Amino acid sequence: MGEEFEEFDEEVEEKLEYRERRYEVEQRMKQKRSEEYEVLEEVFDKPTLMTIYHLMNRGVIDKLYGAVAAGKESRVYWGVSRDGKDLAVKIFLIVSAEFRKGMLTYIEGDPRFTLVKKSTRALIYTWASKEFKNLQRAYEAGVRVPKPIAIRNNVLVMEFIGEEGVPAPLVRDIELPKPKAVYEDVLENVKKLYQKAELVHGDLSEYNLMFWRGRAYMFDMSQAVSVQHPRAQEFLKRDIHNISRFFEKLGVRIRPVERVFRWIVSDVRD
Ligand SMILES: Nc1ncnc2c1ncn2[C@@H]1O[C@H](COP(=O)(O)OP(=O)(O)O)[C@@H](O)[C@H]1O
Ligand SMILES: [Mg+2]
Repeated sequence: MGEEFEEFDEEVEEKLEYRERRYEVEQRMKQKRSEEYEVLEEVFDKPTLMTIYHLMNRGVIDKLYGAVAAGKESRVYWGVSRDGKDLAVKIFLIVSAEFRKGMLTYIEGDPRFTLVKKSTRALIYTWASKEFKNLQRAYEAGVRVPKPIAIRNNVLVMEFIGEEGVPAPLVRDIELPKPKAVYEDVLENVKKLYQKAELVHGDLSEYNLMFWRGRAYMFDMSQAVSVQHPRAQEFLKRDIHNISRFFEKLGVRIRPVERVFRWIVSDVRD
């Protein structure tokens, strides 16, 4: 899969267009110009701004509002598409060498990814495209995840889960109406992810599950691995363990981790 790296060759060309595009975007954002715009300029480097402008010029993103979350590795913004749909725009930061090592654990050993170049920037682009592909596979398999919309370099655009720029709460931040049903539903989704999308989330917990309109949504899939990854089974057990621990605290009578594991990998219903 070489397509993640195509963008590099375009970079020089894009730099030439930078001023022109920036001008266009400034014009377009004039009305609400924009503290937010200036904040973007402060937070992101030029290639990242170019990528955002490109997505705006292509009409994927029409408006970009404030950040809804700022982590160490990414920032998530609320945006709106040209056809008026709310978007979550996840921008991966070009980060430290230490984080690099962590990422390699999930990329090496996944048959879908070969590392052609190993610069930090290349690795982040691969990482972002990995999250996009994972979301696509999960979404197509019917797993409840935000619908992936576009990926370019380190900018991932997906369906916004929530309303008016307010993200849906995490399952840990609210009182779940029927925790037992949510527990079962999450496990069904983990099984679908394994059996149909052939993926293991790898970082599943109450921190990566939103609760929206009565249902749990899995998200943050950059580290998800193919079931063929040598550590896939280990990651799956850890995911089940985290889910069990969380729902047990809520008073749900949980099934033993080993049994759930066998049920997920065996393709047999119990
Ligand atoms: N599709 C989405 N819709 C709404 N909010 C989102 C969406 N994706 C992420 N968020 C918000 O951004 C936060 C961080 O996203 P996440 O993907 O977990 O980033 P990180 O990899 O930095 O942990 C989430 O906790 C959630 O509040
Ligand atoms: Mg997260």
